Amino acid sequence: MKRSEPTPAKPKSPASEKSGARATTRGEEGTISVRRIHRRDLLRTWEFLKLCFRDVNRETVEYQRPRSKKRFFEVYEEEGIVQLLFELIQGKTSVIVGYAECAFEISGSDNWMNHRYFTKRDMRPLYVEEIAVHPGYQGLGIGGFVLEQMEHIAKLNGCTHLVLEVAENNENALRFYRARSFQKLDAAIFLAKRIMTESDILPPRVVSRRPRPSQPDVQTLLNGSRSRARATTKGKGT
Ligand SMILES: CC(C)(COP(=O)(O)OP(=O)(O)OC[C@H]1O[C@@H](n2cnc3c(N)ncnc32)[C@H](O)[C@@H]1OP(=O)(O)O)[C@@H](O)C(=O)NCCC(=O)NCCS
Repeated sequence: MKRSEPTPAKPKSPASEKSGARATTRGEEGTISVRRIHRRDLLRTWEFLKLCFRDVNRETVEYQRPRSKKRFFEVYEEEGIVQLLFELIQGKTSVIVGYAECAFEISGSDNWMNHRYFTKRDMRPLYVEEIAVHPGYQGLGIGGFVLEQMEHIAKLNGCTHLVLEVAENNENALRFYRARSFQKLDAAIFLAKRIMTESDILPPRVVSRRPRPSQPDVQTLLNGSRSRARATTKGKGT
């Protein structure tokens, strides 16, 4: 079992005034407190993350986060990954309003980050794997507080940079990071070119009823067969 990672320092109590993390959506006073995740929190944190990224994922080529549920549960067991929950405490009630995950090493078998890029440049990154704030509590300074907490962990552990990945069209997040002095490191972007080809499906076609030749009515048919019969009888007598 993990949990031997460095201990993030306790957040200031009450939560940092500077981050503005004390106001709530309803204008009531509340306090944001940070704690490490427990096994019993995993399921509701997973649900929380799905909610936070629902709108983001609708607009991006690559699913941003969270990764699979299986991976999320595995992360909890891994060494060297810090998972923190941010709870808004109002009186006796508390609600999860933020989540952060960071690692001291490049983690996960699906990670394509190149650690040499950083060593060559004398960078010792803290990899911020996840930052999420509840959609109902965004824009209140909670994200700023989460980021301060990440920076605090980085400093305590001798890291020189916070490094994270964000989709270029996750505009809210990009604005958030840019306003907090994050700069683009590399340019891994998705390109697409439209291939001009004929479709294997034929285009729509107009259909309409063709006018049919007019049908003789029953009486005409009967008259016709009677006169034919008469003609045959006459012919027989001659
Ligand atoms: C990006 C995110 C963490 C910011 O959290 P937050 O609590 O809204 O951030 P703060 O209130 O501290 O800061 C708000 C700032 O971010 C921007 N912002 C981002 N989302 C916003 C929202 N839904 N409403 C208002 N402002 C938002 C604003 O530009 C605002 O401007 P400021 O820099 O002048 O303060 C949050 O929007 C989020 O969880 N988004 C969905 C998940 C996600 O995309 N995570 C990042 C993946 S890399």
